[in-house]
Parts: sequence; C-alpha cells; structure tokens
Amino acid sequence: MAEKSKILIIGATGYIGKFIAEESAKSGHPTYALVREATLSSPAKSKIVENLKNAGVNFVTGDLHDHESLVKAIKKVDVVISTVGSLQLADQAKIIAAIKEAGNVKRFLPSEFGNDVDRTHAVEPAKSAFATKSSIRRAVEAAGIPHTYVSSNFFAGYFLPTLNQPGATAPPRDKVIILGDGNPKAVFNKEVDIATYTLKAVDDPRTLNKILYIRPSANIISFNDLVSLWEKKIGKNLEKIYVPEEQLLKNIQEASVPLNVILAISHAVFVKGDHTNFEIEPSFGVEASQLYPDVKYTTVDEYLNQYV
Ligand SMILES: NC(=O)c1ccc[n+]([C@@H]2O[C@H](COP(=O)([O-])OP(=O)(O)OC[C@H]3O[C@@H](n4cnc5c(N)ncnc54)[C@H](OP(=O)(O)O)[C@@H]3O)[C@@H](O)[C@H]2O)c1
Repeated sequence: MAEKSKILIIGATGYIGKFIAEESAKSGHPTYALVREATLSSPAKSKIVENLKNAGVNFVTGDLHDHESLVKAIKKVDVVISTVGSLQLADQAKIIAAIKEAGNVKRFLPSEFGNDVDRTHAVEPAKSAFATKSSIRRAVEAAGIPHTYVSSNFFAGYFLPTLNQPGATAPPRDKVIILGDGNPKAVFNKEVDIATYTLKAVDDPRTLNKILYIRPSANIISFNDLVSLWEKKIGKNLEKIYVPEEQLLKNIQEASVPLNVILAISHAVFVKGDHTNFEIEPSFGVEASQLYPDVKYTTVDEYLNQYV
C-alpha cells in the first residue's frame, strides 16, 4: 500500500482545525501543526494542545506572518491544510507564497469549510468574507498549486444546538424564529464527519482541483422540516414567527459585528438556499458521501437527540 501523505495543518488549535488535525493523525498521516509559540503555553489552549499531542500531532512553531517558518514547515510535508479563522483569510496569500517557494506540495486545502463562495447570493458583510475566500481560490489557481476546496456547508455544532435562534443556549421549546419562508434546504454536518471526509479527500485523485461538497442526503433539510423534526422529538408544537426577507435585510444592516455576519450567512443559506440551489457538476465538483459511501456520518435526526 502507498505510504500516507504527510500533512501540515495551519490553524490546528482553532474550532474546526482541531477536529481535522486529530483525524489526520488518527487516520495514519504523519501530521504536523504550525502553531505560534504563545499558543503552546496559553492556558486557554492547553486542553486542545494536549489532545492534539495525545493524538500524535507534531508541533512546529511558526507564524503565518513568518515566511521562513512557513517554508520550513511546508518542506516537511506533502499536503497543507489551512483552517485559519475569518480574520486571517486574506493572509493565506502568505501560505501560497511559501508553498510556491517550497515547491513540494501535492495538495493545498485553503480555509473554506462553508458555503461555496463562488456560488453565493450573500449580502454584506458575508459577501466580502466570501469574496476573500474566492480571491484566495483564484490566487491558488494562478500559482498552479494542486488543490481541493472543501465546501462543508454548516457546522452542526454552530447551528443545531439552538436551531439557529440568536442568543439562545438550547433549542427552542415555546416559539421559534424562522428566516424567510423556511423552505430552502440547508446542510448541517457534524464536525468530526467534516474532518473524516476532508482526510479521505487529500490523497484522492478524484478530488484534485475540485470542490468537495459535503452534502449527505440525510443532512439536507429545510428549516421548516428541521422545526417539525424537533417538534416530533419533544412532542410539542412551537409558535412560529416568520421573518420576511425585507425585515431580515434591515436587521442585518442594523446589527453590529458579529451578529450582522451571522445573520447575513443565515440569509444566504436559509432564504436564498445557497447550500443547495445549484447542481454539483463533474467539471467543478464532487460530493463526499457519494465518493466515500462507507463513512457512517451522524444525521441531523441523530444529532438532535442529545438535546431532547
Ligand atoms: N461552516 C460553518 O458553519 C463555519 C463556522 C465557523 C467557521 N467556518 C469556517 O471555518 C474556517 C476556520 O474557522 P474557525 O472558526 O475554525 O477558526 P478559528 O477557531 O478562529 O481558528 C483559527 C486558527 O488559526 C490560527 N491562527 C491565527 N492567527 C495565526 C497566525 N498568525 N499564525 C498561525 N496560526 C494562526 C489560530 O491559532 P490560535 O489557536 O493560536 O489562536 C487558530 O488555530 C474558516 O474558513 C471559517 O470561515 C465555517
């Protein structure tokens, strides 16, 4: 059997990065994490750092803003996965420059893990954030770097624990706010499953220079159906408050950071249907659950059981 590729994760101590770094090591890839010195000694990050160490992740100290450290780390591996956060998206130009200089990378996965940013109807401020990811895609392509863009759609852990109710800490039990008419279908995937699919894709020729969409059939659901599913589980009907699109657009304009970003992303997905309003054409994309039918992913239905 071919040896597993060596992987560097930039952003391994972040929200989605920790799942990906752990899965990388657990699935047998020699795994490196580029981590800032201060993070390794940060009490806030100690649990994540310990878990990654226990999983077998090797730490390389460095910084996105330290070119030499990037090149040195990249030279150790075959695959680079960036999971940097929203504030560092534009700085990924520095990773591209380092990959070009290192010259050894077989696959780069920039920080995506959300909507397909080339097929979006987002309004500001989400529009600009998506445009930044899009411009990184164009820079990767212009540099001729072999790549895969992972369009994972929603992280289940961000949206399902409250059914996307702003300010809530648990799913609603009396009334629920529904953006738009509740009919467009969204996709919610558990973070460990996103990590599993991502790691399966890194050495797969079928995902080379393609968008990997994570759209498993059981996780494609309209907001109305999500509410019905929840109502069945708790044995109670909720009062439904529909927010028309015009009102939502006004709310986005009046909200401040980060609520305006969350509302704008919600608008793109729940009102415009951006997770599912286009077909995945073989010329640009592949769907993860079709490529890897052996993966036993957690369904939205199963996920909600923990909150009943
Ligand atoms: N689909 C969804 O529902 C959803 C939800 C949220 C995010 N996302 C997307 O997921 C991706 C990752 O976001 P996230 O929220 O997981 O990120 P995050 O939690 O903010 O983590 C960012 C990571 O980048 C590291 N980092 C920051 N500055 C760095 C520097 N100068 N040098 C090296 N490393 C640096 C951080 O290190 P420290 O630990 O040292 O700070 C951390 O590990 C983004 O593209 C975001 O848009 C998607």
